[in-house]
Amino acid sequence: MNTKVTLIPGDGIGPEVSKATLRLLEAAGAQIDWIEMDATPVVGRRKGETEMNPIVESIRKTHVALKGPITTPVGTGHRSINVALRKALDLYANLRPVTHLPGIKTPFEQVDLVIVRENTEDLYAGLEHEVTPGVVESLKVITEYASKRIAHFAFDYARRMGRKKVTAIHKANIMKLSDGLFLHSIREVAREYPEIELNDYIIDNCCMQLVMRPERFDVLLLENLYGDIVSDLCAGLVGGLGLVPGANIGTDCSLFEAVHGSAPDIAGKHLANPTAMMLSAILMMRYIGQTAVANRAERAIHKVYSQGKYLTHDVGGKATTEEFTTAVVGALE
Ligand code: NAI
Repeated sequence: MNTKVTLIPGDGIGPEVSKATLRLLEAAGAQIDWIEMDATPVVGRRKGETEMNPIVESIRKTHVALKGPITTPVGTGHRSINVALRKALDLYANLRPVTHLPGIKTPFEQVDLVIVRENTEDLYAGLEHEVTPGVVESLKVITEYASKRIAHFAFDYARRMGRKKVTAIHKANIMKLSDGLFLHSIREVAREYPEIELNDYIIDNCCMQLVMRPERFDVLLLENLYGDIVSDLCAGLVGGLGLVPGANIGTDCSLFEAVHGSAPDIAGKHLANPTAMMLSAILMMRYIGQTAVANRAERAIHKVYSQGKYLTHDVGGKATTEEFTTAVVGALE
């Protein structure tokens, strides 16, 4: 029986990478009925807003969604639809495996780490106000509940995937209360997983260690904002944003999406690399139990990267989005 999945193609390069991904999944034999939802901001009564309810309802019904990137205006305009979806569905864990792909030339060929980012609070609580003209306050919210919940997620993931170490990342030397609570909560949870090592780094030192010796890291556990920044840094270690998949996981629903944004600078130019979206879909296929299809699709991607003949511009090749996709589909065994 086919699995129902909500599909949100997004905007910018979203529809291009979504189309490429669907082509691969279909060719690999995925058994999915897609429920397509448009999440681009519509101009209506609330100018520039998106009607979120039907999208949220669809994901509540299918429990699983695959999503392309959605633009969020900087400084003004509507609030992030991505953040709103994560909040509405309580997708509290953001998971980003960062692994070196065969054939990609970077200074680091041993990178195989996983970022676990708390997805619901911190400075993303959206609690900002103007105290007086020229002065604003933005509130960082950290709770013991959310910190322990994400710590359990990270340690359970490490246990399930046979990973050996969780590294907590923080700035508890300066934000003694908020980051202090995050770190303390993780240390408490870690006691329930004696076979997994816990260590911790202050965020600035961690960034330096990551760009010098990334192979030392296994599972990284971070608050929302640090997680956002460090996951892009880690994408850079393995060749860029076009290569790294992601998942937002909650108790009832999960939403799979690439780490990158809508890339307006290359939208419509056939330059988008669909690998990140394809790998996100592969994570999703494993999650819904279609493991054989996931493995088949992943092997085909690895083959195309190993051969290095049909790579997109962002990783030093000349192929268009469509040519790369044709090569991957052709590499399916
Ligand atoms: P971005 O990730 O869209 O682009 C950064 C750079 O990476 C650009 O030069 C872009 O061309 C390149 N790039 C990204 N993905 C690529 C791909 N698949 N293939 C080849 N090159 C790729 O980040 P930016 O410019 O900061 O954000 C653009 C918009 O996307 C913003 O409105 C932002 O809010 C939104 N965004 C949405 C996300 C989501 O839907 N989950 C995540 C991140 C940003």
